[in-house]
Amino acid sequence: MKGLNGKVALVTGAAGGMGRQICRRLVDEGCSIAMLDIDKAGLESLAADIGGAAKVFHIAVDISDYSAVCKAVDAAEKAIGSTNLLVNNAGWDKFSNFLDTDEALRQKVISINLNGPVNMFHAVLTRMAQRDGGRVVTIASDAGRVGSSGQAVYSACKGGVIALTKTLARELARRSILLNAVCPGPTDTPMLQDFLNQGPGGQKVHDAMKRAIPLKRLGQPDDIPGIVAFLLSDDASFITGQVISVSGGLTMHG
Ligand SMILES: NC(=O)c1ccc[n+]([C@@H]2O[C@H](COP(=O)([O-])OP(=O)(O)OC[C@H]3O[C@@H](n4cnc5c(N)ncnc54)[C@H](O)[C@@H]3O)[C@@H](O)[C@H]2O)c1
Repeated sequence: MKGLNGKVALVTGAAGGMGRQICRRLVDEGCSIAMLDIDKAGLESLAADIGGAAKVFHIAVDISDYSAVCKAVDAAEKAIGSTNLLVNNAGWDKFSNFLDTDEALRQKVISINLNGPVNMFHAVLTRMAQRDGGRVVTIASDAGRVGSSGQAVYSACKGGVIALTKTLARELARRSILLNAVCPGPTDTPMLQDFLNQGPGGQKVHDAMKRAIPLKRLGQPDDIPGIVAFLLSDDASFITGQVISVSGGLTMHG
């Protein structure tokens, strides 16, 4: 992909299903990588896996804590250089009908999926704006475009980060900072497995999802890095404020 070699990328949720594959792809493209996640052990195993010749830094941080995020970004920049690329990928949900949720669950979902990206945007975009340039890809969700039963508050957060992406793309275009969002459909990662393992109907839900997807399979973590790398590359230098689904055709959004 054009223009990625030598860039410094910061990836949140790096230790998760999609995050690992995104990090691997960016390292293959010649990027130095700062990997952030709340899962310290997961980060350590990933760093051991992809370390080698690549310049890789990792730090455990909760993205819902703004001051911890600022410290982590500072530490990352000290270790591997100024951030050129941000991938906002961390996320979490526990499937539940809205009326069955309690306040603690609703606040946790908002903290991670909305406050987390807000914190990352603010900490990293402030630095990118001082340097007049940068690229951001945020992993939202088709839940934020078309809704998803059992994911009401999560869908609201994902819709929120899509709106945030478009607004920031308008505000920061004059600083040569480009922001886009990628919306996976159901994708076979620990997050989806947790949901499918929640009750005895998991296999049925899995099969129903597969039937509903025109390409007749669930997404795999490896379906995501290609579009992320493209949107971060020089091939996408006239694309900003856009939202693209990677869902096997489940959603065909205009
Ligand atoms: N799997 C799906 O079906 C699906 C569909 C649409 C969108 N998404 C989105 O894709 C992204 C990646 O998810 P995934 O499917 O790879 O799930 P995953 O659970 O495998 O990975 C998510 C990662 O985020 C990290 N994380 C969670 N809370 C955090 C916090 N407070 N601070 C820092 N890190 C935190 C987790 O430790 C984990 O490593 C998420 O934003 C998710 O909402 C997933």
